[in-house]
Amino acid sequence: MTGRLEGKVCVITGTGGSMGGAAAQMFAREGARIIGCDIDAEAARACVERVRAAGGEMVSMEPCDLRDRSACEALVALGLETYGRIDALFNNAADAHVGWIEDLTHEAFAATLDAEVNVVFNLTKAAWPALKVNGGSIINMASVSAWSTYKALPGLAHSAGKGAVLSMTRHLAMEGRHHGIRANSLSPGLIETGATRTFLAMPEFADVMIDKIMLGRPGQPEEVAAAALFLASDESSFMTAADMRIDGGTTAW
Ligand SMILES: NC(=O)c1ccc[n+]([C@@H]2O[C@H](COP(=O)([O-])OP(=O)(O)OC[C@H]3O[C@@H](n4cnc5c(N)ncnc54)[C@H](O)[C@@H]3O)[C@@H](O)[C@H]2O)c1
Repeated sequence: MTGRLEGKVCVITGTGGSMGGAAAQMFAREGARIIGCDIDAEAARACVERVRAAGGEMVSMEPCDLRDRSACEALVALGLETYGRIDALFNNAADAHVGWIEDLTHEAFAATLDAEVNVVFNLTKAAWPALKVNGGSIINMASVSAWSTYKALPGLAHSAGKGAVLSMTRHLAMEGRHHGIRANSLSPGLIETGATRTFLAMPEFADVMIDKIMLGRPGQPEEVAAAALFLASDESSFMTAADMRIDGGTTAW
């Protein structure tokens, strides 16, 4: 442990998943105390066990559905009761429906915005008073889908959701400036996670997607968590309203 997050209390959502789980382990290793959550209770508990087994401090709320604003309020209350403060909020969790426009139902489109955009608003609003106390760091998970398209990915709803997360982040930075709150987003390209593993096993999808990556391979969850760690830490103290693309060069050619 080198203590890059020593003394900080960090809320991370979707800790039962790949990037949220990687962030929980990495943040804890750097001295942060973690408040996790996931709608998948078993996966969330497994993450807590892994973090504690490695000597880290973590509590978690599970199941926790961030589409429900009262669950978000309860998560913030758990954090404050346990650790007394919140210094960083990593809005990582999301869920999306895929479909080309002619197949995508109105319900699936609306459900995607709920699970990608409302979740960020709900928890950020609930945590805002706590973030104001010491001046916190908000890290929102956007995507290269906010910037670009993949011809193999029926990502219409997902692009809309992540575009909203990207632009919301700029606005949160603007409002947060009075309170010492910084807000930045991450835009990962294709990362090998629980959400993409099945697609990556399909050559007709994987070959087209990987062809777009300058580095010629998908990213790993830890390669995104490392950027989140930087944004949560004071090392990024002059960064706000910024987006970090972690896409192996996908959007550069
Ligand atoms: N994998 C990629 O290629 C990629 C690329 C760009 C952005 N992203 C984004 O990264 C984030 C993490 O994705 P991942 O690839 O690690 O996926 P993942 O499925 O491994 O993890 C996501 C976790 O979020 C949880 N979750 C979803 N909706 C929730 C809700 N309403 N309340 C609480 N928990 C909820 C899931 O149960 C899951 O454990 C997402 O925002 C995703 O859109 C992923």
